[in-house]
Amino acid sequence: MPALLAENVTAGYGRTPIITDISLSVEQGTVTTIIGPNGAGKSTFAKTVVGILRASTGRIMVGDLDITRMPGHQIPRHGLVYVPQNDNVFKNLTVRENLEVGGFAAKGNTDARMEEILSIFTDLNKAREKKAGFLSGGQQNLLAIARSLMVEPSVIVLDEPTAGLSPAYTDVVWNQIERIAASGTGVLVVEQNVERALKHAHFVHIFVAGSNHVHGLASEIVALDLAAIFLGRAEANRS
Ligand SMILES: Nc1ncnc2c1ncn2[C@@H]1O[C@H](COP(=O)(O)OP(=O)(O)OP(=O)(O)O)[C@@H](O)[C@H]1O
Ligand SMILES: [Mg+2]
Repeated sequence: MPALLAENVTAGYGRTPIITDISLSVEQGTVTTIIGPNGAGKSTFAKTVVGILRASTGRIMVGDLDITRMPGHQIPRHGLVYVPQNDNVFKNLTVRENLEVGGFAAKGNTDARMEEILSIFTDLNKAREKKAGFLSGGQQNLLAIARSLMVEPSVIVLDEPTAGLSPAYTDVVWNQIERIAASGTGVLVVEQNVERALKHAHFVHIFVAGSNHVHGLASEIVALDLAAIFLGRAEANRS
């Protein structure tokens, strides 16, 4: 059973759908990336999966639990967490307080979990009493990821976790993402940087104009003419 399964999902902000009939699954312990041009619907899909937007058709499953109609705020406690691209930390709270907030939906003692997370995210450990607003952009992104891990999720959805970061810090963030997958969690990442998306993912979906007709193992996708696909000329690859 996949960690996350979306089946025939259609969604948008008003009457007109932005994403149409998207099916995608994320296996436990693997990284799946979504790439595609600006406005293709990548973030819209991420928001729909995590319950911020409602799917007008289709089904979303976390393991064997159907979350399609579940209110968004209840979803994290069932193992699905989301790290948005922007405004993903509470800037006036310290690192430790941000992690505490992340633990609200968790069961049991979260102190031990926080220490475990801080032992992995060493930069954050050094800054644990610092206000999040004083961290660098990369550290804030790491904090947002760390916070989402407080509930010991089975699936984590990240929207452009390395946008605007230096190459060196992008490496740091991707190392953590790979580590999260290695611990058994299913990871879904929206990634602008195609090279990174192919390098770090097991499976890749290409979104173009609200659809994901092209998808496959990273090793297969790397061989395609991505420029043509991004421009909506997917047939160019199927000669
Ligand atoms: N809050 C909103 N209300 C109405 N339309 C929106 C809203 N957010 C996004 N859209 C529209 O939905 C479409 C898809 O946007 P989305 O943000 O999902 O794309 P994306 O693939 O994540 O793009 P990017 O690579 O720029 O992040 C765009 O046409 C966008 O204008
Ligand atoms: Mg986006």
